[in-house]
Amino acid sequence: MSYFKVFGGKRLCGEIEPSGSKNASLPIIFASLATCGISELKNVPDIGDVRVAIKIIESFGAKVKRAGNTLCIDTRNVFYTMPDKALTSSIRASSYLIGSCVARFGVFHLSEFGGCNFCNRPIDMHLFAAASLGAEISSCEISAIRLAGAKIYFDKPSVGATINALIMALSACGESEIFGAAKEPHVKALVDYLISAGADIEEIPFGYKIRKSELHGGTLEVLPDMIEAGTYMLLAPMTEGRITVRNAAKLELDSFFETITDAGIGISIHGEDVTVYGEPQRPFLVTTAPHPGYPTDLQPQTAPLMSKYFGGIINENVWQSRFSYLDSLGAFGVRYKTMSSRAEVYHSKLYPAETFAPDLRGGAAAVMCALTARGESTIKNAEIILRGYSDFESKLRRLGANVLYKE
Ligand code: EPZ
Repeated sequence: MSYFKVFGGKRLCGEIEPSGSKNASLPIIFASLATCGISELKNVPDIGDVRVAIKIIESFGAKVKRAGNTLCIDTRNVFYTMPDKALTSSIRASSYLIGSCVARFGVFHLSEFGGCNFCNRPIDMHLFAAASLGAEISSCEISAIRLAGAKIYFDKPSVGATINALIMALSACGESEIFGAAKEPHVKALVDYLISAGADIEEIPFGYKIRKSELHGGTLEVLPDMIEAGTYMLLAPMTEGRITVRNAAKLELDSFFETITDAGIGISIHGEDVTVYGEPQRPFLVTTAPHPGYPTDLQPQTAPLMSKYFGGIINENVWQSRFSYLDSLGAFGVRYKTMSSRAEVYHSKLYPAETFAPDLRGGAAAVMCALTARGESTIKNAEIILRGYSDFESKLRRLGANVLYKE
């Protein structure tokens, strides 16, 4: 089993550049299946989830070439197939096959979608979008001879359902509108890619207006990963260091910046770069919410900081519950109490430990604890962290961390 060995207690200082966004790259890779042409995507991170996504679209006949961080995807000769269950059940983003297969082939056989299962992750809103556009849905199949434009009302924002609704609506006759859509930067990146591929999509208040479009190949430079950027920013106070994250100033992290500066952490922005320094002066209050709120994907990485300093309160408003990772942090001495969607994290003495990465972000949080606890820690199941953090070991080392990754 893969593991990270961490010799903690070192101050992390220096500059880091986040890789391309995982959560923007994945929907774009799957959406390329709904286009007929050659797409060029720049700044695509070479991480586990992206490698699986590429294997899945290759099984549909897509030809994919990687040169450095650029992916060239040729979807001119794709065909419908039942994708390998072992692949689809290993990443959540495989659920974007619903949109691209229904749009391109008029059919999709439902399979198990994987990913970080920190709580139940339903797909009822994805199916609701397909049904609203006229698709027939059975327990194992979605089929559509002809989709028809419709108004789709979501009662809460869902990144995945919005993405699938957008892709399917482009193949639906006439005009569609999505209301209550997610507006995360990675959803906007998908929209930009689709527009470059010939899509007629207009942003409207609370959603999007979409007209049926013939899609050819598109081009996009994927934005830097806002969650990776935020994770490195939190490492500065966690290790009493000073870290500059390049190209992070425009990443729409305002509510994250507000929360950490409210706790007393220093942030200075110079051009495109963000430098984080200093220590919290008071307890943290984190309240996650759909964009532009505090990102739920940065919630687990905030808990180590709370425990090292003055404690804090987390209100999780995106997922029903996202606190199972706290068990793994408990091995380092993190003390906490959870009450459904709320967690209290108490000031705790952190010591080295051997534990498991429970999921991607929880695993990053465990590494944060290990980096601050003086002595040797081991985090097993470490490959799950590399599914979302590109070059994690080498980037941490560049900042001065003493870490070793073994497969
Ligand atoms: C995306 O997941 C991200 N994954 C998640 O990041 C992120 O936590 C989440 O959006 C919220 O920002 C990817 O982009 C690959 P949702 P997604 O649909 O699309 C409920 C990470 O660490 N819901 O926006 O699956 C759901 O239960 C990952 O990188 C339904 O009720 O999330 C949740 O409460 C983890 N029915 C809320 O909506 C549905 O059909 C938001 O989920 C769909 C969702």
